[in-house]
Amino acid sequence: MMNADAWNKRYQEKESLWVAAPDRGLVELAERLTPGVALDLGAGEGRNSLYLASHGWKVTAVEFSSVAIERLQRLATQQGVNLDTVQSDIFTYLRTTLPAVDLVVVAYLHFPPEDRNELYRLLSDAVMPGTHLCLIGHHVESFGHVGPPDPARLWSESDFATSFQDFDTLLLEKRIEGTDHGHGDAPVLIAWLRKKVPTTTQ
Ligand SMILES: C[S@@+](CC[C@H](N)C(=O)[O-])C[C@H]1O[C@@H](n2cnc3c(N)ncnc32)[C@H](O)[C@@H]1O
Repeated sequence: MMNADAWNKRYQEKESLWVAAPDRGLVELAERLTPGVALDLGAGEGRNSLYLASHGWKVTAVEFSSVAIERLQRLATQQGVNLDTVQSDIFTYLRTTLPAVDLVVVAYLHFPPEDRNELYRLLSDAVMPGTHLCLIGHHVESFGHVGPPDPARLWSESDFATSFQDFDTLLLEKRIEGTDHGHGDAPVLIAWLRKKVPTTTQ
């Protein structure tokens, strides 16, 4: 797994690393929800955090790269958007902070399978019933076109089946995002999940 120093180095090589537009799959979900509290894990330069914060959400962006966080904060200031940033490893954050949030965003985090499963386990345990998750990543069929050069780190529909048993799947879709997102014809996988609210029996 790449550490914060390696990510800082990658960020320093370019003025901006990612497109400015938020993920369509996130916008579509956010438009259906009442704005509340959102957590963007591995927020990068903050395109999804900035979108949510400018649409009424109270956002915390968690990111371990100081370079990315500085960019995110600069963009927020330029755009007159208020949000909170936490410079932290997301695994540590989830283990130590129980977020009472309405929406968690995980976009383009391509960890090796054991770390991905650990992230999903932590997330699944940490969030409250009713919380929505928006997970977006390169589909395994995009191997060789975009994303990490390791199919095991790319996403498959089956990744979600075991990790999120306490969740309803509202959407699980393989999609071509389009060239404006820099992915060409390579598909992304979008999952919208909602933690089940236990029903009480009398
Ligand atoms: C491919 S970028 C995606 C950024 C953002 N989610 C987006 O879609 O624009 C992955 C980001 O996750 C961050 N990251 C990777 N592992 C992390 C970790 N363990 N804790 C915190 N941030 C992490 C990296 O620094 C990088 O900014």
